[in-house]
Amino acid sequence: MAFIQWSDDLSVGVSKIDQQHRELVRMVNQLHDAMSQGKSKDVLGGLLEELAGYTVQHFQTEEQLFDTHSFPAAEAHKKAHAELTQEVVSFKQRFDKGEVMLSVQLMNFLKNWLVDHIQGDDMNAGDFLASRGMS
Ligand SMILES: [Fe+2]
Repeated sequence: MAFIQWSDDLSVGVSKIDQQHRELVRMVNQLHDAMSQGKSKDVLGGLLEELAGYTVQHFQTEEQLFDTHSFPAAEAHKKAHAELTQEVVSFKQRFDKGEVMLSVQLMNFLKNWLVDHIQGDDMNAGDFLASRGMS
């Protein structure tokens, strides 16, 4: 059983966003498995870097869609993205310095954040974009 199991409950109804969310789920699962298997700090750091990079790229995709379609709740949603980016970047910096390690708590935090964000803000955005004809 995967750490995060993809299901239709996570689909926001816009294929471009769903596809990227699936990739994020895959990357969080990969990080979780690597941590569970006791992989080296270098391996974990590399996966963390990839996850952070892909997250930033994904947020940009969503935000461009918000701008293109004049999504009314864009500002609050962008703020949520900026906060998460900041948390990930500062975690990565502390990880690189050896101040913190990957832990079950951190993985659960990531999982909950991702699932809550998808099922909350992203679901609202997906409904709006679908009403504008995106699928
Ligand atoms: Fe989002």
